[in-house]
Amino acid sequence: MPEHTVLFVDDEVNILKAVQRLLRNEEWKVLTSSRGEEALALLEREPLQVVVSDQRMPEMSGVDLLAAIREKQPNVVRMMLTGYTEMNVAVDAINRGEIYRLITKPWNDEELKATLRQAFDHYDLKQEIKRLNQVTRKQNIKLQDMNRNLEIKVRDRTKQLAEKHLELRVAYVQTIKALAEAVDAKDTYTRGHSERVGVYASKMGREIGLPKELIERVYISGLLHDVGKIGVRDAVITKPDKLTPEEYEEIKAHPGIGARILQPVEFLADVVPCVRHHHEWFDGSSRGYPDRLHGDRIPLPSRIILVADTVEAMTSDRPYRKGLALEAVVREIHKYSGSQFDPRCAEAMLRLLEREGESFVKKKQKFDIHAFLEV
Ligand SMILES: [Fe+2]
Repeated sequence: MPEHTVLFVDDEVNILKAVQRLLRNEEWKVLTSSRGEEALALLEREPLQVVVSDQRMPEMSGVDLLAAIREKQPNVVRMMLTGYTEMNVAVDAINRGEIYRLITKPWNDEELKATLRQAFDHYDLKQEIKRLNQVTRKQNIKLQDMNRNLEIKVRDRTKQLAEKHLELRVAYVQTIKALAEAVDAKDTYTRGHSERVGVYASKMGREIGLPKELIERVYISGLLHDVGKIGVRDAVITKPDKLTPEEYEEIKAHPGIGARILQPVEFLADVVPCVRHHHEWFDGSSRGYPDRLHGDRIPLPSRIILVADTVEAMTSDRPYRKGLALEAVVREIHKYSGSQFDPRCAEAMLRLLEREGESFVKKKQKFDIHAFLEV
């Protein structure tokens, strides 16, 4: 079964016979018809790609036939075979887009064959373009779907990662809290001290206007500031009476011990200096330790923690005294602002106490650093 079929329509049977003779050795199937109506009926039955029609026929003119074919099967390539006398009609038909080519009678055999070959190529090419367009359209739709799926996947994955990240942060803080509680447990009077220092210090950090990352470091440093007390004898830590100079020297070793304990922990590298210097005095006086740093040389979290630590200690009960009232605390902060305390930190604490009053130093407050940083 040949792949290509051409239909010739002409009322002159001799012409049709001549065409069949001419094309009998070609690989095309050649159909013929002498009437327009019959040609249209054939078109319904036979798959064909090219129609060549005479113009002047008794019942239906060539132009009308080709127009009808264009209507029914626009893909079929339409050509006209005509004598010089009907040239005007044919040219008009070409201009209106009804036909692909005009072949004049009498024709040149080789030219006719070449034109038919071109017509089939033209048909095949148009079909191929159509097919490619369809493929491209389908692939575009597929690609859009894939893109959409990819976006959803990336969004889901990012969300999962963020959740995992938060889980890790929470676990990290919980571990640090457990360590801080172990330190506080050495002395029943200081239970919850480290956590509260962390909370007060975080609030001061926000009051000063620090960025989130630094507030978190302030909190962690607050939790861990006294971790070095693990290395100080219990008898010294829990001694209710005044310490001897030797015992005081033992106590003064705790920031250095704390820094040494934390030193090997890579993710606490930023916290180590904050712990080491939380007892330095802002004016660099000898009452500060261990390195007698002063001013900005003392890490800001350390300066914040010193104020938070003092407020927490003063407002807590001790074996030898009850917790002090806020007015006494406020007086103390004023008194040591500029000497022991960085005035900026002292003022932040004073503003917080002024604004929040007793509720600021409430001993049982729930605090979640990540929730705090989100607000
Ligand atoms: Fe301390």
